[in-house]
Amino acid sequence: MSTQSSHQTWGGRFAEGPDARVAAFTESISFETRLAPYDIRGSIAHARMLSTIGVLSADEFGEIEAGLKAIEARIAAGDFPWDAALEDVHMNIEARLTDDIGALGKKLHTARSRNDQVATDVRLWLRDTLDALIDEVKRLRAGLIELAEREADTIMPGFTHMQVAQPVTFGHHMLAWQAMLARDSERLAQIRARANVLPLGAAALAGTTFAIDREMVAQELGFDGVIDNSLDAVSDRDFAIEFVSAAATIMMHLSRFSEELILWMSPAFDFVELPDRYCTGSSIMPQKKNPDVAELTRGKTARVQGHLTALLTLMKGQPLAYNRDNQEDKVPMFDTADTVGACVALFADMAPHIMVKREQCREAARRGFATATDLADYLVRAGVAFRDAHEIVGNCVSRAIREGCDLAELELTTLREYSDAIGEDVYEVLTLEGSVAARNHIGGTAPDQVRAAAARARHALES
Ligand code: ARG
Repeated sequence: MSTQSSHQTWGGRFAEGPDARVAAFTESISFETRLAPYDIRGSIAHARMLSTIGVLSADEFGEIEAGLKAIEARIAAGDFPWDAALEDVHMNIEARLTDDIGALGKKLHTARSRNDQVATDVRLWLRDTLDALIDEVKRLRAGLIELAEREADTIMPGFTHMQVAQPVTFGHHMLAWQAMLARDSERLAQIRARANVLPLGAAALAGTTFAIDREMVAQELGFDGVIDNSLDAVSDRDFAIEFVSAAATIMMHLSRFSEELILWMSPAFDFVELPDRYCTGSSIMPQKKNPDVAELTRGKTARVQGHLTALLTLMKGQPLAYNRDNQEDKVPMFDTADTVGACVALFADMAPHIMVKREQCREAARRGFATATDLADYLVRAGVAFRDAHEIVGNCVSRAIREGCDLAELELTTLREYSDAIGEDVYEVLTLEGSVAARNHIGGTAPDQVRAAAARARHALES
């Protein structure tokens, strides 16, 4: 069964229209209307260029531009009758333009193809998407820096192998998260710069016989230049892969934060609390306050990683130049943008409101023999070789475990059973505050270093 006798925009050589199932299978309008404003901007720039090279008259351009702007307004108002029989966003807009302004609308597609058109639309969309994401990542970084400054003196256990390792400051931990996001910001900016070049003018694949001015179109659309090779222009989707890869990396980072927040909110840790508005409850267990935003973020990371795999796989078998496979880039890209955008925005909202339970954090560090390395370093300063010091402190820890106390609670005489290099001043290094304050160099966890690092991070954010 065919939907119409021949297709409105490409039916000339066809004896019948597409089978209904084929039409439903090939359409993309159901998932790409977000490209419409970019399609219209691209069309206006193209038409203006056609008028300057004499392919359209100034009046014709004026009418096309007005017609496209009227369509844009209708779309923005939610009053546009998208028609799946017209396949995609490009043909919906072009067909409507021809209905609205008459046969002149049919001249718009001179010297271009949907292949360079869609590549242009997607790059324009991605540029706006990246700009919005770059801003949100910055907002999250600012929230983490604020939290780091507030908790620069707060002591918590630092972990390796999820075992208590050495005391760190909560602020130092927040700045580690911030550092991951600073790299994400850099990646997004680099991807934006690489993606911001114009495909239009490549036409279907080989360029066009009209004397087009691609530089003029690039300038009007805010592109930094034109893509050099027409085959590459219509077929390249590296920008999509790079975007989804950077997004997957952001999600991986948020997933790691999530994992820590989930652990820290567990009563078994009890390091932090989130305001109720960022948590949800259990339908059966009245006592529960669940960190669902963090859990869903961890879960949605899987989707974005899946999208990256989808795009890499989509491209790996494609010969030059354009293939319809490329239509499959949209759902992964759009869903990635929606997912990473929502997660980053929520984390940016939440970060400054993370309430740190300072006493519990400190107590967890105290219980875990977190200053054992400080004792070993103390012995080294007293002339003991590090490996011997390690052994001595191991014996002290074992003794403290047997006695059910902390290293700082062992009597001096007890400590001296393991090494006579230990003196009264040992208790200064066994305190948690002494331990963190001693790591007083760039990159160290000392509160003063955290404050300095936060100031540097804030400066980087503002520059
Ligand atoms: N919907 C198509 C896409 O997303 C537009 C380009 C169609 N080009 C074509 N030759 N059928 O790639």
